[in-house]
Amino acid sequence: MTTDTGTGSVIGRPLDRTDGSLKTTGGARYAAEFRLADLCHAVMVLSTIARGRIVDLDSTRAENAPGVLLVLSHRNAPTLPEHGRAAFKPPAGRALSLFQDDEVHYNRQPIAVVVADTFEHAVAAAALVDARYAPEVALLDFERERASAYAPKEIYGKPPDACWGDVDAGARVADVHVDATFTTPMQNHNPLEPHATIADWDGEHLTLYDATQYVSGVRDAVAKTLGMPADSVRVVSPFVGGGFGCKGSAWSHVVLSAMCARKLARPVKLVVDRQQMFGPVGGRPRTLQRVALGARKDGTLTYVRHELFANTSDFEDWTEASAVVSRMMYACPNGATTHRLVKLNTGTPTFQRAPGEATGNFALEVAMDELAIALALDPLALRLRNYAEREADTGKPFSSKHLRECYARAAERFGWARRNPSPRSMRDGRDLVGFGMATASYPAHRMTAQARAALMPDGTFVVQSGTQDIGTGTYTVMTQVAADALGVPPARVRFELGDTNLPRAPVSGGSMSAASVGPAVQAACRKLRQMVIAQAARDSASPLQGVTPGRVSVDDGVLLIRDEPSRRETIAALAGRAERPLEATAEAAPGKENERLALHSFGAVFVEVRVDPDLGVIRVPRIVAAYDIGRPLNEKTARSQLQGGIVWGMSFALLEDSLMDARNGRIVNANLAEYHVPVNADVGTIDVTFVDHPDYAFNPLGIRGIGEIGITGVPAAVCNAIHHATGRRLRDLPMTLDKLLSNTPPY
Ligand code: MOS
Repeated sequence: MTTDTGTGSVIGRPLDRTDGSLKTTGGARYAAEFRLADLCHAVMVLSTIARGRIVDLDSTRAENAPGVLLVLSHRNAPTLPEHGRAAFKPPAGRALSLFQDDEVHYNRQPIAVVVADTFEHAVAAAALVDARYAPEVALLDFERERASAYAPKEIYGKPPDACWGDVDAGARVADVHVDATFTTPMQNHNPLEPHATIADWDGEHLTLYDATQYVSGVRDAVAKTLGMPADSVRVVSPFVGGGFGCKGSAWSHVVLSAMCARKLARPVKLVVDRQQMFGPVGGRPRTLQRVALGARKDGTLTYVRHELFANTSDFEDWTEASAVVSRMMYACPNGATTHRLVKLNTGTPTFQRAPGEATGNFALEVAMDELAIALALDPLALRLRNYAEREADTGKPFSSKHLRECYARAAERFGWARRNPSPRSMRDGRDLVGFGMATASYPAHRMTAQARAALMPDGTFVVQSGTQDIGTGTYTVMTQVAADALGVPPARVRFELGDTNLPRAPVSGGSMSAASVGPAVQAACRKLRQMVIAQAARDSASPLQGVTPGRVSVDDGVLLIRDEPSRRETIAALAGRAERPLEATAEAAPGKENERLALHSFGAVFVEVRVDPDLGVIRVPRIVAAYDIGRPLNEKTARSQLQGGIVWGMSFALLEDSLMDARNGRIVNANLAEYHVPVNADVGTIDVTFVDHPDYAFNPLGIRGIGEIGITGVPAAVCNAIHHATGRRLRDLPMTLDKLLSNTPPY
């Protein structure tokens, strides 16, 4: 029996993280922790106006400060190919601020870099750089600029607008209508590890130690920006302290550190500080969404209309694709979805966990709750009434969809049947109690990936791919995939990643690493297993010499023939006699499945809130969620990712809000004291389960990504629970107590 799948497989088991002890003992090296001889320290100076020109940048005092080696600005920066725009191709290649001109497009735009012998000297000198500006009137008023909103050319290959059926006809036959407007604020990325880069030149060769979700993307973007061949740049990133979209792109600081290091002929370290996370490295844009739904008396949807407005910068289009979710969530014969961009003088927004889905799902799933109330239907019953077997706009069937099972499982574990549908009807002591639910969803993405596997002389295996572990558990789950395909215990496999010298893999974004890299690792390891068997059959010293390879199994690191128990030996024994290591490489790419199938993950989220009726304080003691994410590779890391996503969903619902000063476009709460995120005391019980149906139509491992779906559904379920508790509908995130106390009940 082989160990490919099924019982006995290490796939799915809650294996501890293979890198856990390295992390807990401080042995895991993050980008800023590489020790290089002669390393010097760079600190960015950022603009203090939102729009205008730099008329004078006086760096004399900074240059004369102790330890200062260089002040780089538009006055002395080298001219780059195409003014620094040669690599423009998101996700990795963005429109950067590389000191090619004197223009300022947003507050906290990099305008200079100070490099010194110590970090303290660089910080002190950076404060001495004196910029004077000729300010211009900045676009900062989202509501006013919305009048000039425009459609982006496309949203990652999808059209910005999509219509199906006839919405007007759908509206004529509807008995009940809901038409509601929702807003979500700008949010900023705050992984525990901020962005950081060390740039080190050796002649014409550049090595970057970078905190990134995409080593080969950074390599390509930096090489093109600087006008170098890609193979002259190496990017190393073995550990990343969280990456939720921001580290998918090579932002200005990466190239700036390389420019400084080249000028100084010394390695340069540049760490983006916490306040600098609020501007030059992207974030979630502000959105305004209008969702209109119509249904017959029995709850059958007759139309959906979903319009999105989101801000972008004045120098790059980036779209929060919120309305896309309404193209696939429910069976609805008529629909229209649109996306419009509002130019503002802000940094360019970017991917932030479940970009599009997290915001779009909030609007749609709250509108569905409002429709359920208007119809006097149970919110779960309304969703079941409109259960989709196909994507509404394309008509493609789902590759594998078990959302009904998620609804049933989560409703049962939550105790949804105990819900009294009337708002303000449930109490616990003084507190109002509310139960709310929503559907979670995220598309399944996959891209081409390569992997290499080698048998070492000691009988262990080294398996490699130039992917990333952004805290998600890639080291661990790829070890499991490799061990399973090789037929050996996971302890015999060492998985390596995070280096452009390794076989190429895609960005660890869009929840696609496991589904992309897993099949490549599996293919390389299966190939290598066949090579090991063939080697045994050839080796005169092996008890398996002369055997037909098809008769050999590999189990727990032992080569054996089932019906001839005497003919067996360990892989370690065979490896010890090999003249050179056996090695196999493989590439795995998606087929044409997305041409005929809709590829999505789903989940059901149920939330309990407690609201203080006088003070409006909102607590979330309990969240129950069930997910259909294909086959979980590791129950423990999968649960951990989904719990993390759910906590972020709570944060999205109740806390996070990047507040911009309307006069100068500066985010004023640019720190973790005032940009609120949940602490342990804010988080109650989170119950996560999986329905576990492998999706082999999507990839040979049957897995779909799980990085982002956890955040979706939660903001809507919290909003719906607050409505159930209080009778008040909050359509503007975050749902803070002041909004609750000042809101007039619509029902
Ligand atoms: Mo995720 S926003 O694709 O890193």
